[in-house]
Amino acid sequence: MKVLASAPGRVNLIGDHTDYTGGLVFPMAIDRSVRIEFDRGVPWVELLSDVEPDAAFLPLEAIDEVEPRLVRPAWARYVAGVMWVLRPEHGGTGFITSTVPVGAGLSSSAALEVAVALALGFEGEPVELARACQQAEHVASGVPCGIMDQLTAAAAVDGCALRIDCRSLTVEPVPLAADLDVLVVHSGQTRSLTASPYGVRRAQCEDAEVLIGPLRDATVADAEGIEHDDLRRRARHVITENQRVDDFASALRQGDTTAAGALMVESHTSLRDDFQVSTRRIDELVDHLCGLPGVYGARLTGAGFGGCVVVLAAAGTDTGLDAWRVRPAGPATVENLPT
Ligand code: GLA
Repeated sequence: MKVLASAPGRVNLIGDHTDYTGGLVFPMAIDRSVRIEFDRGVPWVELLSDVEPDAAFLPLEAIDEVEPRLVRPAWARYVAGVMWVLRPEHGGTGFITSTVPVGAGLSSSAALEVAVALALGFEGEPVELARACQQAEHVASGVPCGIMDQLTAAAAVDGCALRIDCRSLTVEPVPLAADLDVLVVHSGQTRSLTASPYGVRRAQCEDAEVLIGPLRDATVADAEGIEHDDLRRRARHVITENQRVDDFASALRQGDTTAAGALMVESHTSLRDDFQVSTRRIDELVDHLCGLPGVYGARLTGAGFGGCVVVLAAAGTDTGLDAWRVRPAGPATVENLPT
């Protein structure tokens, strides 16, 4: 049987480094996706990609013996991760086409995982799909990521950004007005989370939680009481960022783009100074973009340590920089193709 599985990338408008503490995030799926034409049946998975020179080849029977993290070529680790988690009954051969830039912070790996899972026949609720693919990411990359990226790809709503509560895993769509543009500007600094201090940041949040309890329930005053400088900063970022997500959602609902933009800038400052995941190049880009006519706000998006800046602007704004103009897209899908 032939299928076409497709999963979108995502950009996070606000709410970074909050998902793995059960916090609030506000991403949207974008109109760039990973698509897989997949012919199901054979007892192995063989995938070619238009963006990678080497094919992924993984026999189903070998999945118990392989460590997904060591599979080659490196991109096939995500395929192996999904197979490792799902233990599919059949494999297949297929071709991947992707319009999600790799290493930019637009969740190309989550889109790949979700598309592979659907191609392999995953059936279940979006939250289950996201959980399985989050686990696949953990075993494939060793990075203890949260659930935001996979859940955005699985549960997106066309035309909307999503307020996701990463504790209850509820997804609330918030329409994005047509007179707004979301632009994504690459810093030119590609990054791999495997080589970044992402895991250290997550561990610091856990250490802060030992001191003041779940960050989701803690107050800024609780954070201020932490003696250890790094832990105090990490906690303060997460607590204030959760509040900013709710304030941002309200601002968008009320059409208050000035307030929404200001919250993005506050989020950036917090990521820069308290969570310490920005770079000088990204700080300069954010400053520059925020000074342009038509721009309401800009901030680092995703994990940081390089990657992209997301910009909220009046429709038609030209930043003079290379930028992807992205629209909020719908969820991952799978459909049968004629054989
Ligand atoms: C990466 C992770 C997400 C999230 C962001 C930061 O994209 O995959 O789970 O933690 O970083 O908000």
